[in-house]
Amino acid sequence: MLLNTPVARDTVQSLGASRIREVANAGMGRSDVLPFWFGEPDEATPAFIRDAAKNALDAADVFYTHNFGIPPLREAIAAYLSKLHQPLGADRVAVTSSGVSALMLVAQLIVNPGDRVVCVTPLWPNLTEIPKILGAEVVKVPLQFGETWELDVQRLLDALTPGTKAVFINSPNNPTGWVITAEQQRAVLEHCRKHGIWILADDVYERLVYDGARSAPSFLDIATPDDRVVSANSFSKSWLMTGWRLGWITAPQPLMADLGKLIEYNTSCAPGFVQRAGIVAIERGEDVITHTLERYRAARDFLYERLNTLPGVSAPHPKGAMYVFFKVDGERDTLALCKRLVAEAGVGLAPGSAFGEEGEGYIRWCFASSLERLEEGTRRLERFLAAR
Ligand SMILES: Cc1ncc(COP(=O)(O)O)c(C=O)c1O
Repeated sequence: MLLNTPVARDTVQSLGASRIREVANAGMGRSDVLPFWFGEPDEATPAFIRDAAKNALDAADVFYTHNFGIPPLREAIAAYLSKLHQPLGADRVAVTSSGVSALMLVAQLIVNPGDRVVCVTPLWPNLTEIPKILGAEVVKVPLQFGETWELDVQRLLDALTPGTKAVFINSPNNPTGWVITAEQQRAVLEHCRKHGIWILADDVYERLVYDGARSAPSFLDIATPDDRVVSANSFSKSWLMTGWRLGWITAPQPLMADLGKLIEYNTSCAPGFVQRAGIVAIERGEDVITHTLERYRAARDFLYERLNTLPGVSAPHPKGAMYVFFKVDGERDTLALCKRLVAEAGVGLAPGSAFGEEGEGYIRWCFASSLERLEEGTRRLERFLAAR
């Protein structure tokens, strides 16, 4: 390479490209492919939420807002979280331009180059790559495959050595559907308190749990306002708003001034008319969540049962989120397998290796879809496996 070739810094060059994209690129635009590769709801944002944004645009809500978001949205988020978890003031809430941005901001706030960051995996790749972008060392603690995906909490505590800066926990988890228990959370929190370790909780799927609870167990249920616990959340999954790019952070009050600086230097603020839609979603959107959960529960039950009838397929039972992360006997290279599934069977799935080495050998199927499409998708997979 020429000495003066314009290239990105080493850390960025060494990041892996998305393997989900690699599979999707092979099949996007082909009408004969049924796509289950991305983690996205299959229904559009409800009209009453879209109307709120339209009205705000008509009222020319097109200017910069406060770094932390408009006060009524911060208040609405704080009221929502106070009902779901524990009483919480709006002064601990910062609105962000998406959940991804919330996670990047949280990491920028806490993680120094060279820090040790522990992640529970397999994991949506952004969460392992963000600390790497910041120059941190990422240590992984794998979940165990079985009837459901499970955490050996002692293994996690052993990895949280003194001097570890932070642990990233995404529960309900993408890609496995694993949900941490309240008891495990208490053990992790106690341990982290003792060693001054930050808990960075990715709570974007907290409303997508199938045991009848209003929310998955959350560190916000048990943390005191001064604990080193920061939560990232999003409007994307709960209110079907992926394309709006709206999320939030909940952090201890003493962090907020520095967080405000980071928001200023990243995005400055989320768009005002999008925030207006966020208020309506969070204040009037409980029925949207109920309706979505009912659909996903039926989809999950169907997919879990059907996959387990296929020869050589073992599918653990997902307790939350919107994915089944299953194994096909004898298949180690799931990237190659998923490409063949697109080309030969017309079914688009995400290879497990997209979620780290520990994900290799598994395939992720997003069940945010109609039962008819899931039925057809499983039929195609069945035919493909029978012809192998
Ligand atoms: C685990 C997890 N966290 C965060 C996000 C970010 O969501 P968004 O940026 O759409 O708010 C996603 C999206 O797929 C996710 O799966």
